[in-house]
Amino acid sequence: MTGFFITLEGPEGAGKTTNRAWLAEQLQKQGLEVVLTREPGGTPLAEQIRDLLLHGSDEEQMDSTTELLLVFAARSQHLAQVIRPALARGAWVLCDRFTDATYAYQGGGRKLPVERIALLERLVQGDLVPDLTLLFDLPVSVGLSRAAARGRLDRFEQEGLAFFEAVRHSYLQRAQQWPERYRILDAAQPLAQVQQSLAQLLPEILKLSRG
Ligand SMILES: Nc1ncnc2c1ncn2[C@@H]1O[C@H](COP(=O)(O)OP(=O)(O)O)[C@@H](O)[C@H]1O
Ligand SMILES: [Mg+2]
Repeated sequence: MTGFFITLEGPEGAGKTTNRAWLAEQLQKQGLEVVLTREPGGTPLAEQIRDLLLHGSDEEQMDSTTELLLVFAARSQHLAQVIRPALARGAWVLCDRFTDATYAYQGGGRKLPVERIALLERLVQGDLVPDLTLLFDLPVSVGLSRAAARGRLDRFEQEGLAFFEAVRHSYLQRAQQWPERYRILDAAQPLAQVQQSLAQLLPEILKLSRG
């Protein structure tokens, strides 16, 4: 028995968490077991790594490769403790960000070579890839203003426009590269409309899950 692995991607403020809750509710209504989780994090240990990633140290700048290794260290723990067991028992896993975010942030944003990320992806994940990735795409300025409205900015949110443009570009490029796995949602629309688009995708998603 294998479950179904959905990842939600996009910048801060795109609506990933809001729509993840909505999607979970729809799936639960069908009697499906749904596991909601997020990256970096998803287990107590991985959440500690998340804290390091988002807030770093006041005394020292984090090296980009250190950042990349921390992301994958957290992911390894998350896969072992949460994602693989859930999929093995047939649950639906809805994960707020996953490896596509690593390609977008550490690859696009930090400019680390893609091959280095791919190497770690193979090491940590083997052949596990999300069954479906929902990309909540929106102009950088809109995402930043939604994130800013939430208060204190983390290490990533403090980056400049060029960083976020590169993140968006990487996400869109990956969506183009894997059109079968990705669905792009226009996250700049009002929430009701984003949910309507998601509702329209639901039958297709359920069909995909049945192979
Ligand atoms: N389509 C939308 N239009 C306007 N505001 C939105 C929309 N989607 C989400 N929001 C709001 O933007 C903020 C960030 O949403 P959230 O779901 O937390 O995004 P993310 O998890 O991608 O950072 C929240 O205050 C949420 O209510
Ligand atoms: Mg969120």
